[in-house]
Amino acid sequence: MNVSLYPYAERFPVVRSFPQSGRPREAVLSEIEAMSEVEDSPYHEGRISGSIYSGDEAHYAFLNEVFGHYSHANVLQRDMYPSATRFEGEIIAMTADLLHSPEPCGVLTSGGTESLMNPLLVYREWGRARGITQPNVVMPVTAHPALDKGAHYFGIELRKAAVTDQFVADMGSVRSLVDDNTVALVGSAGSYPHGAIDPIDELSALAVERGINLHVDGCLGAFILAWGEDLGHPVPVFDFRLPGVTSISADTHKYGFGLKGSSVLLYRNTDLRRLQYFIVPDWTGGLYTSPGMSGSRSGGVIAAAWAAMVTLGREGYLAIAADIFRTAAELRNVIEVHTELRPLGHSFFNVAFTTTDESGLDIFLLNDFLASRRWRLNGLQRPSAVHFCVTRPNTQPGVIERFAADLALAIEFARENVGTPAKSGAFYAGNVTREQIESGMAWWLDATQALPPLQQPPA
Ligand SMILES: Cc1ncc(COP(=O)(O)O)c(C=O)c1O
Repeated sequence: MNVSLYPYAERFPVVRSFPQSGRPREAVLSEIEAMSEVEDSPYHEGRISGSIYSGDEAHYAFLNEVFGHYSHANVLQRDMYPSATRFEGEIIAMTADLLHSPEPCGVLTSGGTESLMNPLLVYREWGRARGITQPNVVMPVTAHPALDKGAHYFGIELRKAAVTDQFVADMGSVRSLVDDNTVALVGSAGSYPHGAIDPIDELSALAVERGINLHVDGCLGAFILAWGEDLGHPVPVFDFRLPGVTSISADTHKYGFGLKGSSVLLYRNTDLRRLQYFIVPDWTGGLYTSPGMSGSRSGGVIAAAWAAMVTLGREGYLAIAADIFRTAAELRNVIEVHTELRPLGHSFFNVAFTTTDESGLDIFLLNDFLASRRWRLNGLQRPSAVHFCVTRPNTQPGVIERFAADLALAIEFARENVGTPAKSGAFYAGNVTREQIESGMAWWLDATQALPPLQQPPA
């Protein structure tokens, strides 16, 4: 049993088999409330990097009310729930408007991963129509592994380009990997590790020159970076204004401030989008048509994403984005004060940093100390580093000051413990110990492994 992933065995009944009779709703609700209150507390204090993007309790309460009206509704059944079709069309139209699409053309998906896998399928099919049977896609090493997953699922060769010392795609490397079987390029705006924006303009020019496609992974960054121009920040153009950009993913469940389980995938034109539709005309169950990977989808998540966008409006998003840009700049200043630390690349919202070689300090020892103060940063590798992806809860007054104080202590801690192996390491989506990483990943991937062991029957 993994206590850190299942801390409840002592407090609540462990359900190991299907209960014969149900428990009272009030009892179940109080259990839920007790767990969620404890689990949410670090984000309320602004100590979490990424993950919780809005953190506005009133906003969440409103979205949950909206969700409740449609949680049971299946978007697949468009005739029953025309409101879901309205929400979906309007979410796509609003996102297309924000990202300067020539026409509102896209699909809603369950999240960033699906919004990255679908375009890979589309570009494979696009290549197939041109006689390319062994397609490859070129992306920088910093692009998100959901693309590796998609390439693995769909039989596409992924070619990984080097990045510059600013952690953005090295165009010389990208060019050297492109050949006649390349169906698409990928760039991030911004990347998960460093929040960096790849040179999308140069990738676009290359895509146009080669007559191939370019997907921009804006899953993390699109809904925050898009406000930068209006706020006077020098965010480079990364959207459909660049002629080579053929698709963009933008997650409503991150800086779109919706509930988890929604993302927008935009295509430049309907010919491309058509390639992701899937139809089985002669099935015994009737003509089957499907726009993406999911079958049934909850109308609740879609309604909530729509409600987030229309209640906040441009003004609401701009106000929050202004706070996030400001906080990220403050964070960078706090880091740059220390000669022992070095920011990696440049980001408007996601600040990555490590220790300098001269300092001889282990960044993960610093992270151990910060973790002991309930800060939850994300560990990176190649090089070892951490990032702090700024979200709305981090913009509260006092958060950066508290972080600055703990960071100074963390440097002292790392200095005092030089040579001691750090507990934390580079692990995506979790603050776990190196020991846990080295023990194999089954405990993380398989939730049943966290359950307490079965009681042995008496001999
Ligand atoms: C740049 C980028 N792309 C894609 C994803 C994957 O998104 P999801 O976790 O919603 O599948 C993430 C997640 O953080 C990301 O940062």
